[in-house]
Amino acid sequence: VNVNESTVEAILPTGESVSVHLYGATVTSWKLATGEEQLFVSSKAILDGSKAIRGGIPVVFPVFGPPPPNHATSNLPQHGFARSQTWEFLGKSSSESLGSKGAKADSAVKLDFGLSSSIITEDARKAWPYEFGLVYSVILSSESLETSLHVQNKGSQPFDFHVLLHNYFKVPDVSKIRVKNLQNKTYTDKVDNKQEKQETSDAIAITGETDRVYVDVDPTAPVSVVEDDKTLFSITREGLNTVTVWNPWTEKAKGMSDFGDEEYKGMVCVEPGAVKSWQVLEGGDTWEGSQTIRPRL
Ligand code: BG6
Repeated sequence: VNVNESTVEAILPTGESVSVHLYGATVTSWKLATGEEQLFVSSKAILDGSKAIRGGIPVVFPVFGPPPPNHATSNLPQHGFARSQTWEFLGKSSSESLGSKGAKADSAVKLDFGLSSSIITEDARKAWPYEFGLVYSVILSSESLETSLHVQNKGSQPFDFHVLLHNYFKVPDVSKIRVKNLQNKTYTDKVDNKQEKQETSDAIAITGETDRVYVDVDPTAPVSVVEDDKTLFSITREGLNTVTVWNPWTEKAKGMSDFGDEEYKGMVCVEPGAVKSWQVLEGGDTWEGSQTIRPRL
């Protein structure tokens, strides 16, 4: 493990590696033993801590999307503050058995990051004045990348929150991929006046701007990104029952200063979350949600 001022990097003996920026605890690189990068980070992403990182796996907390009016999160920016705060590196643990679910796993490394009400900026504390603690664990094995967020209410008042893990996957050609296992699920179509629709396709093609929040998705059934007969990514979840699928396509891409005009062709966001309704956490209580991403092996 290599720790410097802004990033923590870990490499397994088998060659896989992960890199996490303390800013947002954003995983910004995940490479297979072959050296193939799995995550998309825009060539225009801002990495100096002045704006949430455009790519990798930003952590969305405590609100997904623009905050609603007249709610405890109303003064926060879109997607909350966790992705634009500097987290603490809490340490690493290695294990022979952490990734033991599959035959191939011979070692794994777990990196823990923390964010709490005592270390966020004054502005964020004013905008969301709750006592909380987050621990985000990034676990790399030769067969998967798992990320898990633990939320603790350290105060006595309950608070409402959303969590979402905003995966930006790198894909060879977005027109050739399909997103599978969301058939029959209800979704909110954010590019069509937030209409509620039902998914009819068992293999969703991305053919234009796409911004959909699928709800009540069984977390144990993998949602996958496939290309022809190859599964590029397969994602299982715990505690995260929504899946957002996002691609900005041409016009939205042009509107984002930290995203190249043509970069939409090489990425897709598939974002497990708990964003259908507010999670309510009573004083002293804890909550946990996680995802496990298996790459093409
Ligand atoms: C997705 C949302 O999760 O994130 C989209 O569903 C949004 O509506 C996208 O455009 C990117 O958000 P941001 O704040 O990082 O530009």
